[in-house]
This record gives sequence, C-alpha cells and structure tokens, in this order.
Amino acid sequence: MQTDLRNRDMITDQEWSREELDTLFEVAWDLKRKRALGESHALLRDKVLGMLFFFTSTRTRTSFESGIAQLGGHGMFIDSETTQISHGDTAKEIGEIIGRYTDGIAIRQCDWNFGNQYIREVAEASRVPVLNMQCDVYHPFQALADLMTIMEKFGRDVRGKTINVSYAYASSYQKPLSVPQSLILLMTRFGMNVRLTHPEEFALMPDIVEQAKDNAKKSRGSFEVLHDFDEGFKGADILYPKSWGCWMTTEDKDESAKIGAKYKHWITDDQRMALANEDAIYMHCLPADRNIEVSDSVIDGPQSVVYDEAENRLHVQKAVMALTMRS
Ligand code: CP
Repeated sequence: MQTDLRNRDMITDQEWSREELDTLFEVAWDLKRKRALGESHALLRDKVLGMLFFFTSTRTRTSFESGIAQLGGHGMFIDSETTQISHGDTAKEIGEIIGRYTDGIAIRQCDWNFGNQYIREVAEASRVPVLNMQCDVYHPFQALADLMTIMEKFGRDVRGKTINVSYAYASSYQKPLSVPQSLILLMTRFGMNVRLTHPEEFALMPDIVEQAKDNAKKSRGSFEVLHDFDEGFKGADILYPKSWGCWMTTEDKDESAKIGAKYKHWITDDQRMALANEDAIYMHCLPADRNIEVSDSVIDGPQSVVYDEAENRLHVQKAVMALTMRS
C-alpha cells in the first residue's frame, strides 16, 4: 500500500503505479462502506476543490461536488464562459492563482488537440494537485469507476475476464476518445483480455493503443483489435459499447456525421447481448443516445450495471481527493 500520494496529480491512470491504484481502490471501498453505514469521514475539512468546466457535465460535476462536501470540504464550480477565462486568463495564470485559493483543481477541457495540454500547463503552474475531469485524451475517473464496478460484479481478481470496448453509433455529437482510451489503458494493467472493436475510421490514438499492448504484455493479459461489431460481443464478460468520434480520420463535423451514418446498425440490442456470455454485464459511462446507441431493453435490462457504475464515480473520486488533497 502506498501511503504518500499527497499532492499527486491525476491526469491519467497510466501515470499511477499498480500499487498506487490498488491503494486508491482500498480507500474507495472503505469510503463507500463508511457512506453505507452513515459513518462520518470528513477527511478534508476546510479544503476547497476548484472545479473548472469548459464543457457540460451531469455526473462529473455532481459527483465531485457531492464528494468534496462529504469529505468535509467545499466544491467551487467555475464556468469558463462566465469568468475571465473566456477573455484570456491563461493556463499558467489559472494554475498559479486558483492554486493559491484552493487545495485542488479539477478540470474538464475536452477540446481536440488542446484539452490535455491545457490541463498539463495548469498542473505545471499549480502548487496543489490537478485532477482531470476529462480531456481529449483521457477520462481517468470514469475508467477507475468502471474497474471498481467490474471488481464488484466479478471479484477483485479480474485477470482473464474479457472486456469488449466497442464503438457504437450515436447521432448527438462527435464525442471524445477519452473514455475508450482510458478503458483500454487501465483494463490491460489488471490482466484482463481487452478487445477494442471499431470500424476502420474510428481508430484510437496509435500511441495509446501501443501503450495498451505493452500493458497487456506486462500484466499477462491480452489485447486485440476487431472491426466486426458482432464479433466483439462473442464470449465477452463485460460489454462496453459506446460512441466516439472519428477524430483520427477527420475533425470536420459534417464529414464525421457522414462517416458515422454508415454504422447506424452498430446498436446494442437484445440479439447482440445474446452473443456474449450468459452472465455478461452491460456498461456505459452515460449519457447514452437511447435507441440509437443502445436499446432501452438493454440499458434498462437485468444485465445493465450503469447506475452502479455512475455511483462508483463518487467513491473513486473521493478516494483520490482524500489521498492527494490531505494536509
Ligand atoms: N460519464 C460522464 O463523465 O458523465 P458527464 O459527462 O455527465 O459528467
């Protein structure tokens, strides 16, 4: 167990060692148990988390704000549009200044080819830990909550379990690559058989895929890329089909919508679910495009764990805040 994680940034799970991640999960389960029992756990009394959003959010905002309050601190919502950030405050200024007012800075900045760089610039200038609430490359807290949920459903040793991280069609907008990328990076650290399934145009960043391959080798798991939607379901224990944009192919919205429309049949329904193992679970980070990305019968069905998954955002985030923001 690693006991000194004070002041550590969480920008990607990949930068935390396996032992540090194991510590984080131990703390998350302890805090979840304490909340279930109604035990006080004000580990961050008088601490402030600045939460800077450049993009909309439901789960991330509410779970971070609830989490810091339950730890005895305060969450300060900062909207980029209604502050001087939209008029030119730089990343360095945000790190320097908000870092002097608060005990942690959490940021969601998903702009393509910019978000991760922005968060790293803030972290460079900040004297307090910086937590990535989603960027163009990573969504580390989503992947942590997802792994916690898988461990709860299948047991803590997830080695040998097969997860299918798959593209699914959605019409709403060109979503970031951050969820599938964080998933393939984290699940390969824990010895799982990781399948990445997508049409050719929806590839992930090549260096992320290379890191996932390397992780799988080190953890004695496996990693494979498939391009057939149905094949991805066959024999899988965990199904994680969600939409993402074809950013590696085009940044043009109209062109990307045209490409996406070729894959309208990539929808998770009961027939697809029947291809997976009998006790397979369905996961989605939410929000989902209902009856486009996934049928109501699946997302509301007995194999769906989406609400447990959303709840676990709260517990992993509290664990990371408690470990990194303490005095
Ligand atoms: N899964 C997730 O990050 O949800 P929000 O976009 O609502 O925060």
